[in-house]
Amino acid sequence: MNRSLCSIAAASAVAFSLLTASAADKKLDPSKLPPVASQTGVTYDKDIKPLFEKACVKCHSGEKPKSKFDATTLANIIKGGKNAPDVIAGKSGESPLVYAIAHIGDEDDFMPPPDNKAKIPPLTKEQVGLVRAWIDQGAK
Ligand code: HEC
Repeated sequence: MNRSLCSIAAASAVAFSLLTASAADKKLDPSKLPPVASQTGVTYDKDIKPLFEKACVKCHSGEKPKSKFDATTLANIIKGGKNAPDVIAGKSGESPLVYAIAHIGDEDDFMPPPDNKAKIPPLTKEQVGLVRAWIDQGAK
């Protein structure tokens, strides 16, 4: 191999390792999430709606919900927003919404956004665990 070919090969090896490193960073790691709540029979109407009404609907309702994600009805939550799906029924460890509310992963996606003007606090680990249980039980 001549020298210039060799440096192209070296450069592409570096580029490839950078690419795979950033892909690995993006990989969702369920082991970092708060544990799934043990509560059975978790439903949207009974358990999740009151939670989302306090923490989410301020920004995720109306004509132009943030990121086109409407958090006011079960159907729209399942439908998801601009980057749907946000909830994958049966798989809380693969649902982007869970990482967003657990404040794990990409900081830009943390929900509610830290330091939001409405001063809505983050969900507790127990609340995140309840959302996980709801999703794992089929998001009904
Ligand atoms: C103070 C306003 C605010 C609150 C409160 C809030 N969000 Fe958000 N949400 C945003 C903004 C802004 C974005 C877009 C973020 C971006 O594009 O980087 C967003 C995006 C999202 C998305 C991505 C939707 C998609 O498919 O693109 C989800 C899911 C989400 N929020 C869920 C929630 C949940 C669940 C709650 C409540 C626990 C919540 N948000 C509370 C402002 C808010």
